[in-house]
Amino acid sequence: MSIRLGDIAPDFRATTSIGEIDFYEYLGDSWGVLFSHPADYTPVCTTELGRTAALKDEFAKRNVKVLALSVDSAESHKGWISDINETQNTSVEFPIIADPDRTVATLYDMIHPNASETLTVRSLFVISPDKKVKLIITYPASTGRNFNEVLRVIDSLQLTANYSVATPADWTDGEDVIVVNSIKTEDIPAKFPKGHQVIKPYLRTTPQPNK
Ligand code: BEZ
Repeated sequence: MSIRLGDIAPDFRATTSIGEIDFYEYLGDSWGVLFSHPADYTPVCTTELGRTAALKDEFAKRNVKVLALSVDSAESHKGWISDINETQNTSVEFPIIADPDRTVATLYDMIHPNASETLTVRSLFVISPDKKVKLIITYPASTGRNFNEVLRVIDSLQLTANYSVATPADWTDGEDVIVVNSIKTEDIPAKFPKGHQVIKPYLRTTPQPNK
C-alpha cells in the first residue's frame, strides 16, 4: 500500500526493543516520526540512530515521539543498541520496531524491491497529532539522512499548522515567513501586526508570528 501526504497513518501493533506497542497509543497526542533503516549492525544506520538519540531534547521540545524500524528481531535491536550507545556516545531510548515478517514495512511501503528485495529503504514519515501523514522522505541505503533537516521541517509543519503562512527555501526557525495567498494584502496588518513586505503581489513576507 502506498501512503501519500494527508493520508491517515495506519495503526499497528508491534514488538519493539522496549516491548509490545500499539502505534497510536504510543504516539498519544504527540507528533510522530516513524523511520526505517535497512539493517542492524550496519555503519550508516548506526550513525543515524545515534544522531536521533542525541537529538532527544530537540524532539521532546517539539512534542515529537520517535520510532525506528528494521526487519531485524528485537533481540538483534537490543544488542545493536549497545554498540550505538558505545560508538555514538549516546543513549538510544526510543523504540526500534522489530519487523522480521515485514508487516509494518509493507503497511508503510518501506521495501522498494528495485532497491532491495528484502531490506527496508530509509523511509521517514512525520505524523501530526491527528494521525495524518505530513512528510514523507525516502533515502537510499548508502546515504544517511540529515536529522537537522527533519527538525527544520517539523518546525515548519508545526508553524504552518497554526498560522496562515508558508516557509521559504532554506528557512529555519526564527526567519521571516511567507503569507499565504489566500490572505488579501489589505488584510495582512490585522493578521500579522509585526509588519510585512510586499515583494510581488504573490510574494508577501512577515516576521515569524510565534516568535
Ligand atoms: C549502512 O547502514 O551502512 C548500510 C545498510 C545497508 C546497506 C548499505 C549500507
